[in-house]
Amino acid sequence: MNNNLPLIIHLSASKKLALKIAKETGYPLGEAESYTFYDGEEMVKPISEVKNKDIILVQSTSFPASKHLMEVLIFVDALRKNQARKITLVTPYFGYARQDRQIHHNDPITASLVARLIESCGVNDVIFCDIHTLNTPKFFHIPTYNIEMTSLFKEAFLKEIEDNNYSLNDVMIFSPDHGSEFRGLELAKSLGVSFGEIYKIRPKVDETRIKDIEGSPKDKIVFIVDDIVDTGSTLIEAVEALKDLGAKAIYVGFTHAVMKERNYQRLLKNNIKKIYFTDTIELSFHHDETSVLSVASLIARKIKEIK
Ligand code: R5P
Repeated sequence: MNNNLPLIIHLSASKKLALKIAKETGYPLGEAESYTFYDGEEMVKPISEVKNKDIILVQSTSFPASKHLMEVLIFVDALRKNQARKITLVTPYFGYARQDRQIHHNDPITASLVARLIESCGVNDVIFCDIHTLNTPKFFHIPTYNIEMTSLFKEAFLKEIEDNNYSLNDVMIFSPDHGSEFRGLELAKSLGVSFGEIYKIRPKVDETRIKDIEGSPKDKIVFIVDDIVDTGSTLIEAVEALKDLGAKAIYVGFTHAVMKERNYQRLLKNNIKKIYFTDTIELSFHHDETSVLSVASLIARKIKEIK
């Protein structure tokens, strides 16, 4: 085996994805061990020899976000103390990215705090997938790479269009809120179809109300794209509204399945033709009703590109 190859190491949130990335890159897997003390304190360290090695650390800071983030910080600190060379953090889902600006008086900007923590423990560069907004990369002073999922959704949606003999003239991409406009618009452009946008307000954290809709979904095959589904309320309200306005069929695609099982079940009840999401977050429940698109080859390509 070539000893100069980077080691891929995963922590507790991203085992399956790390295995796929190792396969795609051809890089060897390293090992880590972890332990949670009775009071919730984390201990995590490499088992493999890391001295003078480049390390690709794979860990989404998904549920439970703070535990998974602490694992990253402790592990990177251990890598540095044990003289690892270059440390690339692959955090396909970057938790805390939704706290990237002050919306209400006295709000924290936690995404910037997390960026500082990650940098200060010794990470050299960071790769994320469909980061919530482009504010977060700006909080870092080390190189960051955001992999957009447009190509993945484009391929899946095109197959759906072909398999069902839909005409591109009848297809529309909708973004379920203003924050996702750039994603939806890019996808619509790359497919050569029209684009519509929903404007929402959020009276409560788990509640969404639609304010306005731009573009008519009447008799259209609609694909809704978003980065995150958490409570599912954004998507469910969007689906309802577009159906009421005469959409013929609705498909949804989102990158990060932050949702808990009960919210996934809520989503299934909404007469959506097919649900696509990616494997940036490893779910602990069965989700056979949906199509999971893997981000592994896009991440592997980026790792090789920045090596
Ligand atoms: C919001 O800005 C995001 O793009 C998602 O729309 C949002 O995080 C989804 O959350 P939920 O599923 O709780 O409505």
